[in-house]
Amino acid sequence: MSTPDTDRRTPEISRVVMTTIVMPADTNNYGHIFGGRVLAMADKVAAMAAMRHCRLAVVTASIDRVDFIRPIKSGMIIILTGEVNAAFTTSLEVGVRVEAEDPITGHRIEACRALITLVAIDRAGHPVRVPKLEFDTDEQRERAQRAQQRRKKRLATRDAY
Ligand SMILES: CC(C)(COP(=O)(O)OP(=O)(O)OC[C@H]1O[C@@H](n2cnc3c(N)ncnc32)[C@H](O)[C@@H]1OP(=O)(O)O)[C@@H](O)C(=O)NCCC(=O)NCCS
Repeated sequence: MSTPDTDRRTPEISRVVMTTIVMPADTNNYGHIFGGRVLAMADKVAAMAAMRHCRLAVVTASIDRVDFIRPIKSGMIIILTGEVNAAFTTSLEVGVRVEAEDPITGHRIEACRALITLVAIDRAGHPVRVPKLEFDTDEQRERAQRAQQRRKKRLATRDAY
């Protein structure tokens, strides 16, 4: 058994891909998956990516953006990809992209996107510092800058509702 290279902390190294199939019990009367089911899976994927980045326990602090773009029907394969967009002091923003794949034709569509902020915690539940995110590409660097802008807005409006 080999241990993964834990020295590097890039979005790619902590990326999580989860694949499952939509069963009738996951769907509403129209045969489309419930939004809450997708959100629960997205939260799980985000937590796994965050834990891979920090190698610490994490809790979800906020889900400030979820867009359900297209319905996902029963029988479709669903692929969730979670990637750390940015690491701040004790928190991280993870972006989750959800695709739906027709198992017969292989045709894929983007079905949902979510932005989830998680906080690393110690055994007592207190926030602890997260490792810095390293970048391999300019695209990753730009994504982190956009996450930084969103964080400002997120925290500025946190107590405003
Ligand atoms: C999230 C939690 C740990 C924050 O604790 P806290 O004492 O408020 O900590 P702080 O105010 O020092 O904030 C810690 C970090 O969380 C971030 N944070 C706190 N509330 C946030 C929110 N609503 N949205 C985004 N980030 C938030 C802060 O910006 C800070 O990040 P930073 O260190 O990178 O700047 C605490 O509120 C908690 O335990 N909430 C319950 C979590 C939970 O049960 N989730 C669902 C199940 S997993």
